[in-house]
Amino acid sequence: MNILIMGPAGAGKGTMSDLILKEYDITHISTGDMLRENVRSHTELGEKARSYMEAGHLVPDEVINAMVEKRLQEPDCEKGYLLDGFPRTLVQAQTFDEISSRIGRPVQAVLALQVDYEILKERITGRRICPKCGAIYHIPNHPPVREGICDVCGSALVQRKDDTIEQLNVRMEEYESSTKPVIQYYADRGLVTVIDASGERDTTFAQIRKALGKVA
Ligand code: AP5
Ligand code: ZN
Repeated sequence: MNILIMGPAGAGKGTMSDLILKEYDITHISTGDMLRENVRSHTELGEKARSYMEAGHLVPDEVINAMVEKRLQEPDCEKGYLLDGFPRTLVQAQTFDEISSRIGRPVQAVLALQVDYEILKERITGRRICPKCGAIYHIPNHPPVREGICDVCGSALVQRKDDTIEQLNVRMEEYESSTKPVIQYYADRGLVTVIDASGERDTTFAQIRKALGKVA
């Protein structure tokens, strides 16, 4: 099964991806996680991406497209993929069409998460992440057992540099102008299921399970 998960910053794409992966044996590809890993290890790609990410802006299409094209051709994508955070512009969507049909792995479903701005604000400012294993927490809604320590791997949790209201607002503008047209692009092909992602994790995931049940 080949799926895209889309939605604004803090909508729960990473959180829902973790739940999807518990039920479906497919490969998770998060462009945000890949970029953060490159920034941490000071690769050339990471150095190109850093300033855009810290300001909340999108990283240039050519950087992202090359990164995703390479990743999608790795053997673990043969069993299916869950693409999280890509494509985010129409240029990326067109490149992705070309790559995915060339390698014979076209997208089958698009999940579009919707959440009101006031809830996004609360989710973004309360988020803490594990820099080592990527686990996602929320203070106070979904805290780790020991304060500031990852339940999964024991590392110290951190706050992302782009998790401020100021950067959230920039990310929302990018979402409205560049990414919403991508959702429409897939809606025109009948691939989109809109998910109300403002409620509890279980309520949101139940809608996703139902949508994916039609594809799997
Ligand atoms: P990326 O990492 O993709 O960030 P994003 O889209 O801004 O999304 P987030 O990771 O902030 O949120 P999420 O939806 O995954 O929410 P989460 O599950 O963590 O991208 C970062 C940057 O990289 C971009 O700004 C850009 O610079 C660059 N980039 C990436 N891809 C790119 C591309 N294709 N093109 C160009 N640039 C690109 O949840 C948020 C919080 O809420 C958590 O604390 C969680 O615990 C909590 N939560 C989640 N669900 C619930 C719930 N149902 N109830 C209560 N709390 C919840
Ligand atoms: Zn961890």
